[in-house]
Amino acid sequence: MLIARRRDWALPESQVTDEAVYHNRRALLKALGVGGALALGGGKALAAAKPTPAKPAATPAALPPGVSTNLNLRYPAGRALTAEKAATTYNNYYEIATDKDIWQAAQAIPQRPWSIELAGLCNQPKSWAIDDLLKKIPLEERIYRHRCVEAWAMTVPWSGFPLSKLLDLADPKPEAAYVRFTTLANPKVMPGLSDPTFPWPYLEGLTMAEARNDLAFIGTGMYGKPMPPQDGGPIRLITPWKYGFKSAKALVKIEFVKKRPMNFWQAINPDEYGFWANVNPDVPHPRWSQKTERLLGTGEIVPTRIFNGYGSFVASLYAGIKNQPLFM
Ligand code: MTE
Repeated sequence: MLIARRRDWALPESQVTDEAVYHNRRALLKALGVGGALALGGGKALAAAKPTPAKPAATPAALPPGVSTNLNLRYPAGRALTAEKAATTYNNYYEIATDKDIWQAAQAIPQRPWSIELAGLCNQPKSWAIDDLLKKIPLEERIYRHRCVEAWAMTVPWSGFPLSKLLDLADPKPEAAYVRFTTLANPKVMPGLSDPTFPWPYLEGLTMAEARNDLAFIGTGMYGKPMPPQDGGPIRLITPWKYGFKSAKALVKIEFVKKRPMNFWQAINPDEYGFWANVNPDVPHPRWSQKTERLLGTGEIVPTRIFNGYGSFVASLYAGIKNQPLFM
């Protein structure tokens, strides 16, 4: 007998209309040969598209850099997409400032030329120009839930590729146990760097097994457009089962190392932030509960799920780990 099992985080169908509408719209636009940049343009984009006779789907080359329309349905978000404006105007980017209103200031971060260095314990160390990477690795689109440790959340269509594709390019040596992510620290365009009380640059880390997990994603676009600078453009990490601070923005270096990297927030306050930072509603932050989250755009308060609802894909990564703070 076939039993339809709803994942623990999935909402009733009536509440996910926006995602369904998004899928349908993208499918229609694809069939019409309209690129991803228009996809969320709503009625306007559709109206513009309708008179055009059907032609083959847009080739990746026709899309803006870093963008894909190949939606990967393996990880359904189970809730409505966050309005683009809400997701792209409420940001955490401490290199710019400590408040959320940084999107305009972030436009000063040059997006090209940009290179990302694969380094450390690997057989193929190399500094890659981002456009060469984008030509080499096929892009896809994924809709992920994002849960900030501050208890706000969003649901975003990202473009990019699995982090494992970069690991394949670098060919890590067997001694590599962790991946360390270094992000841009350019004082000319990042005024927050002048605060010496923060341990710049913003660093993050994952175990090799976490980095190989298919959910770990490198984002190069958002809402069918190149990644906006305020959201980590042109290239960022996205680990949706972890608190948002693990998803480091503006990556410039990915290094394979033996020792567990000290991440930015753990270095600032090890009593409140750790290395693992997996989402768990039952482990409160020392200063607030993690039981619920506020959705950007609507302000709706919804229950938080363990591993942000992605437990079936990642819980096994932590099965053998004891006596470590997995959820802070
Ligand atoms: N990456 C860098 N380089 N600097 C930051 O301050 N903030 C993190 C993460 N990545 C941060 C960063 C935090 S706390 C969150 S919640 C997410 O980015 C926010 O991503 P968003 O602004 O795209 O929503």
